Amino acid sequence: MKVLVIGSGGREHALVWKIAQSQLVNRIFAAPGNPGMAALAENVPLKVDDLPGLLAFAKKEQIDLTVVGPELPLSLGIVDLFEEYGLKVFGARRNAALIESSKAFSKDIMKKYNVPTAFYEVFTEIDPALAFIERHGAPIVVKADGLAAGKGVVVAQTKDEATAAVKEMLSGNAFGDAGSRVVIEEFLRGEEASFLAFTDGKNIIPLASAQDHKAVFDGDKGPNTGGMGAYSPAPVVTPAIHEKAMIEVMHRTVDGMAAEGRPYRGVLYAGLMIDGDSVKTLEFNARFGDPECQPLLMRMKSDIVPILMAVAEGDISKIEIEWHDMASVCVVMAAEGYPGDYPKGDVIVGLDEAAKIDDLFVFHAGTGEKDGSFVTNGGRVLGVTGRGTTVADAINKAYEGVAAISWKGVQFRKDIGAKAQR
Ligand code: AMP
Ligand code: GLY
Repeated sequence: MKVLVIGSGGREHALVWKIAQSQLVNRIFAAPGNPGMAALAENVPLKVDDLPGLLAFAKKEQIDLTVVGPELPLSLGIVDLFEEYGLKVFGARRNAALIESSKAFSKDIMKKYNVPTAFYEVFTEIDPALAFIERHGAPIVVKADGLAAGKGVVVAQTKDEATAAVKEMLSGNAFGDAGSRVVIEEFLRGEEASFLAFTDGKNIIPLASAQDHKAVFDGDKGPNTGGMGAYSPAPVVTPAIHEKAMIEVMHRTVDGMAAEGRPYRGVLYAGLMIDGDSVKTLEFNARFGDPECQPLLMRMKSDIVPILMAVAEGDISKIEIEWHDMASVCVVMAAEGYPGDYPKGDVIVGLDEAAKIDDLFVFHAGTGEKDGSFVTNGGRVLGVTGRGTTVADAINKAYEGVAAISWKGVQFRKDIGAKAQR
């Protein structure tokens, strides 16, 4: 089989790594891919939003299965386009991917189908939005409606902060069109978890539990990022919480989307806030989480290809997924300044050393190549992912890898996985 993976981050490197282990696959392409993937896949210089280019490539190469990593091509309708031409593709169709690409749509679905979530209202005008903030006080959360690369959410500790965020988003200065509508919602307390499941639009198979670390600094301090590290399993997802999330969040949402005439097929990612026995949904994503995908796939024992194929063909009723009874931890090594501006082109040393460590894999997220060396080429540069019998072992393994690697100005959190040990 020939498989095409669309994307260039740590998530896509993990997908390529896992797909490469399948006996069913003899050729993997990545578009555009990254230099770290080149050992396992043939990189094709096509951008993730070049839908005509990607379609032409898949037709020419007679790709048997295309796996879409990021949200942008999903929101542009890549799945609909490929299906029109009879190509098998893993991902949500455009009208279902809206669950991520519009926060207002997603909140409205949750409200209509009784999926527990924070109380909210949607605004397009500044004055009523400010009146809402005045009425409810702080802390309060302001979210740009559209895709903003994980940066369109302001958790405001004061009314002034919330007011500033609303003005900036609705005046069109921040996020352009993505900010022309805002969701303002109740601030929720608790601990977050990433709950992912494969679905064919009816049947739902959950993945192992995971937790992300969104804030840039140790102790969850500083601005939010795309994710500075993740681990699996996440003890905060107890069996009781798992059961509740399946019934109240996943089934209600998948059934609701079907009832709306927007059947959801792909991987559905719910960002949950767990507080005691309460489970509320912060957001949905129409894709694998990044970095969550990296520890999750390190723990997946089953061949992923039949699973992805079954989802693409619309029937997962015969699928079962086995997991390694091990923990996995991914520590993101990022460029200095991320999530703000950061330099590129710094030479990365120690990758060969790290490659010698057992039960460790270094996924490339934002790397380039210069004069035969790997260099930094993004905010999140590497996802150093370890596996161990316990979370403590997996943490040690991941940080053993991190210690071997360096470049000028590298930053990473030193407390990834600590919450799982409390
Ligand atoms: P989202 O993209 O909607 O998941 O928001 C990004 C991050 O902002 C989440 O992972 C949370 O850390 C935080 N956040 C979002 N909504 C809320 C909320 N209602 N209450 C507290 N924190 C939130
Ligand atoms: N790690 C969070 C996300 O993928 O949205």
